[in-house]
Amino acid sequence: MTRSGADLRIGIAGLGTVGAGTCRLLREQAELLARRVGRPLRVTAVSARDRDRSRGLDLVGVRWHDDARALAEDSEVDLVCELIGGDSVALDLVRASLRRGRHVVTANKAMLALHGAELAQLAEHNWAQLRWEAAVAGGIPIIRSLREGLAANRILGVHGILNGTCNFILTTMRETGREFADVLAEAQSLGYAEADPAFDVDGIDAAHKLALLAALAFGGRPRFDAIDIEGIRHVSAMDIAFADQLGYRIKLLGVARLTPAGLEQRLHPCMVPATAPIGQVEGVFNGVVIEGDEVGAVMHEGRGAGAGPTASAVVADIMDLARGSVVPTFGVPADELADHPIAPLAAHEGSYYIRLMVLDEPGVLADVSAVLRDHEVSIESLIQRGRNPGQAVPIVLTSHDTTEARMRDALARIGTLPKVLEPPRMIRIERS
Ligand SMILES: NC(=O)c1ccc[n+]([C@@H]2O[C@H](COP(=O)([O-])OP(=O)(O)OC[C@H]3O[C@@H](n4cnc5c(N)ncnc54)[C@H](OP(=O)(O)O)[C@@H]3O)[C@@H](O)[C@H]2O)c1
Repeated sequence: MTRSGADLRIGIAGLGTVGAGTCRLLREQAELLARRVGRPLRVTAVSARDRDRSRGLDLVGVRWHDDARALAEDSEVDLVCELIGGDSVALDLVRASLRRGRHVVTANKAMLALHGAELAQLAEHNWAQLRWEAAVAGGIPIIRSLREGLAANRILGVHGILNGTCNFILTTMRETGREFADVLAEAQSLGYAEADPAFDVDGIDAAHKLALLAALAFGGRPRFDAIDIEGIRHVSAMDIAFADQLGYRIKLLGVARLTPAGLEQRLHPCMVPATAPIGQVEGVFNGVVIEGDEVGAVMHEGRGAGAGPTASAVVADIMDLARGSVVPTFGVPADELADHPIAPLAAHEGSYYIRLMVLDEPGVLADVSAVLRDHEVSIESLIQRGRNPGQAVPIVLTSHDTTEARMRDALARIGTLPKVLEPPRMIRIERS
């Protein structure tokens, strides 16, 4: 609980990109923020690993804890900001703070995607608030929008570009015609990608965010374990060029929908119309589209990471709590979070882009068409470019709507045709 009217005393765990950004914003805008919430917001205690590291922060008069977990017990702290990351010390701190009835603001999507339901329950049982605007799409106020601004809508679906590193790589590949590995190296040198990029390029980071968006959109427990995840390593410059020709952009998209088969959650490269708002989200930017039954589609776009945007979201949560706002962690009371049945990816219905590398000989296309017909997959468009008799040439097909199961079976069969020289490449098309 916080003491209304008096200073809101904030403990910040983690003084890295987000933590230091948050301290700076709270200090530099102290007057404006206090005027807006009607009380001063004051950092009273902090914790990080290395006390001697120079962080460009004025921490005079601020208590330092070597053990971040001590913030949960500090009597001079009303609200704890967990900005460490991971799910060991961070999780201990959040649990301990909530148990003591202290509000928590966190940017930690990994922790929430795995332990969100438990933490939501802990918060509610102790009359504490758990806020996490910064955990999804950084500075974009998508959580508040979904939880509050669109609260009157039944949410039909959510989809979005949730990882700026991947979007930067895919955008640069399209603009320059270069391959993934080359552009990844550039992203690393620019500081947009980590030395170990797996978390980003294999889709884990975006899937954490998708699990949280889906939980909030559909009032369920976050189910990270139930997301079908595919990253962007296999996206080639050739596929991006064909997408361009077909009027699409390739984006790493997280999609969540309640379907008759259950909750569909998938995170993979998608072709989206180049002219659609989501197709226009380029570079390190994130974009999220929410489809509400009353409002229709609403898109938010902006910076998904970095000190300023993320601190902007953290401080907005702090301000909300300073005003005494109370909302359930995932939009409905924790004890009422649904366990939606999970729709298997095989049941997904949509259209597909397929690229085959085939031997340029008569009859190849007839063989491929016969397999697709046998699996009841109908072809929407076909590109067969350049003759190169006896050599490998690409054939590109897009399908009408079909099921993932049919498409996978057809591609498994096509892959065994003698004139098909490489495993078929398949990218799902998302038109809405
Ligand atoms: N960076 C972004 O743009 C961004 C965007 C959205 C969400 N997030 C999330 O925000 C969180 C923080 O990310 P970040 O980028 O700010 O990370 P970061 O730059 O690596 O900073 C982490 C901070 O935590 C401190 N720390 C690590 N272990 C600790 C421990 N056991 N006890 C106390 N402090 C400890 C570190 O201390 P030292 O400084 O002494 O090493 C450092 O100050 C993560 O959950 C991340 O997913 C980040």
